[in-house]
Amino acid sequence: MEAAKINVRELQELILQAGELFQDRKAAGHIKTKGAADYVTEVDYAVQQYLRVRLETQYPHIQFLSEEKANQEIDKSGLVWVLDPVDGTTNLIHDYHASCISLALMDSADVVLGIVYNPYSQERFMAQKGVGCYLNGERITVSSAANMEESLIAIGTSPYYKEMAEENFTIFKHLFLDCQDIRRSGSAALDLAYVASGRIDGYFEHSLKIWDFAAGMLLVREAGGSVLDYKGEQADTRMVNHIVAGNSAIARLLAEKYL
Ligand code: IPD
Ligand code: CA
Ligand code: CA
Repeated sequence: MEAAKINVRELQELILQAGELFQDRKAAGHIKTKGAADYVTEVDYAVQQYLRVRLETQYPHIQFLSEEKANQEIDKSGLVWVLDPVDGTTNLIHDYHASCISLALMDSADVVLGIVYNPYSQERFMAQKGVGCYLNGERITVSSAANMEESLIAIGTSPYYKEMAEENFTIFKHLFLDCQDIRRSGSAALDLAYVASGRIDGYFEHSLKIWDFAAGMLLVREAGGSVLDYKGEQADTRMVNHIVAGNSAIARLLAEKYL
């Protein structure tokens, strides 16, 4: 398997170093607007550039797909890094301390390695296909909640698709009345990592991009959970997907009863 040829120890070290760039508040204040409520800062570009140079040097045969660059030339039938240099850019701008770096490796569109690193808490979630899911080296698994009454659910508000608000908030209300409570972190990758570690029981969001969910998808699956689409099918790595994740019972319940 390709993941076996990656120096995972070095890769994690690289991501930790890139995480230091999150501390640069001046760069975080240099903001460009990409779309409605959609921003990019100098930190996003700096993290992307830092990792791109090093990954392309060390692994010249692996393509590099990343949020803040053009990706038309990517051939998904090969090997591809999938990076979100800052997942949770709005949080970063507000110094809210809930953002992360999300890096996945895909082999023929199948995620074989995923890392989600939160530089504020220094929590590093890592999974390799067939090897399990780990938080700072300790094995983690999804929760065992079996129904909504015992579940804490993270919602994603699809902030760049405000036209979805009516539909989304109707679902959130319905769900809120049935579960313990809902959470909104502002980072899809951290939401998926939290599902993997059992801190929350489920998470869903309409219209995520591949860099938001690729690494987190493997984390959840390797932690024993499910990642479905809104139709209840196994989610795949298309460029935009509607993602529902959880321990298997809760993911199924969310997809079948609420979405
Ligand atoms: C966003 C965050 C947010 C989610 C959005 C994503 P970005 O990523 O993950 O939580 O609601 O759908 O696009 O823009 O901060 O990288
Ligand atoms: Ca993102
Ligand atoms: Ca981003």
